Amino acid sequence: MNKELINIGLMGFGNIGTGTYTTLEMNRDLIRTKTGIDFEITKILEKDVDRKRDIVVSKDKFTQDPDDLFLDPDIDIVVELLGGIQPATDLMLQAMDCGKHVVTANKAAVAANYDILREAAEKNKIMFRYEASVGGGIPILNALTTALRANSFIEILGILNGTTNYILSQMTDFGLEYEDVLKVAQEKGFAEADPTADVEGIDVANKLSILISLVFGIRVPPASIPTEGITKITKDDIKRAAKTGNKIKLIATAKKENGNLTYSVRPTLIPLSHPLAGVNNEFNAIFVKGNAVDELMFYGKGAGPLPTGSAVMGDVIEIGTAIIKGAAYDVKVAGGYQK
Ligand code: HSE
Repeated sequence: MNKELINIGLMGFGNIGTGTYTTLEMNRDLIRTKTGIDFEITKILEKDVDRKRDIVVSKDKFTQDPDDLFLDPDIDIVVELLGGIQPATDLMLQAMDCGKHVVTANKAAVAANYDILREAAEKNKIMFRYEASVGGGIPILNALTTALRANSFIEILGILNGTTNYILSQMTDFGLEYEDVLKVAQEKGFAEADPTADVEGIDVANKLSILISLVFGIRVPPASIPTEGITKITKDDIKRAAKTGNKIKLIATAKKENGNLTYSVRPTLIPLSHPLAGVNNEFNAIFVKGNAVDELMFYGKGAGPLPTGSAVMGDVIEIGTAIIKGAAYDVKVAGGYQK
């Protein structure tokens, strides 16, 4: 059925929810001109209606009942920005069972329940997108699953967490203390609600698990990835690294050699001459090596409301455009990503 209005139900209105809302408001006319579609966030599942936000949103949009989104026949797409594995996963599955297309930025939920979510999407013939779950604003999943599909991949290597990269960069550049910088990262909206996932490397392990699924077609649960965070890194470690011409970065790697896949997340000495040494603050960078394309590097803001909102809205627009074309179920994501 053709229509030119696509209604969105948003679950979660914290930093990323606000960033997504702002991205749409800021570029609404441009998006309409490019796509011919009016996108409207009509309902928001959120308990904290009175939280201080930089934007004004009519209180009528807020609800505390997910069924107000799932059972609303006018809502086409549900965007999950609650974070955490549960109840986010169950809510996404319910939304899919109600025939809603689903977009999420939630790496913890996608990494933990990748197969379940994909299978539910396939069963319900809806589109499921999660670009914002890895690399914030960097369109890495899109690149891997579209333009790079002709490759067999050999290696991924990268900086995948804005909070820890911000902390390490500020400690390195200004000699600041870990705790003080963490506070600023939280204020800037980079950190998770509970920053333990960031600083202990769990957030990166979630993202690496998703990348491994797409790049190597193997499911490696985040808990199976050897993971070490940055909580034990001191100013002295950083000074010692600098004396030997290195920076300390939290690095995620996965590499295929002789048919074996090795992977890890750990603080690593990076020579100052290496391109990753120049990736600072909330920026992320991801190297990918494919057997045809050879080496590629993706770089951009890996955290923050607007970069992440950009990725979320990219998925929403892709789905909205498919709905208008009457082709809103495609095998690429629901069924066709490498297993
Ligand atoms: N807390 C995450 C980070 C948010 O700092 O990278 C983006 O995934």
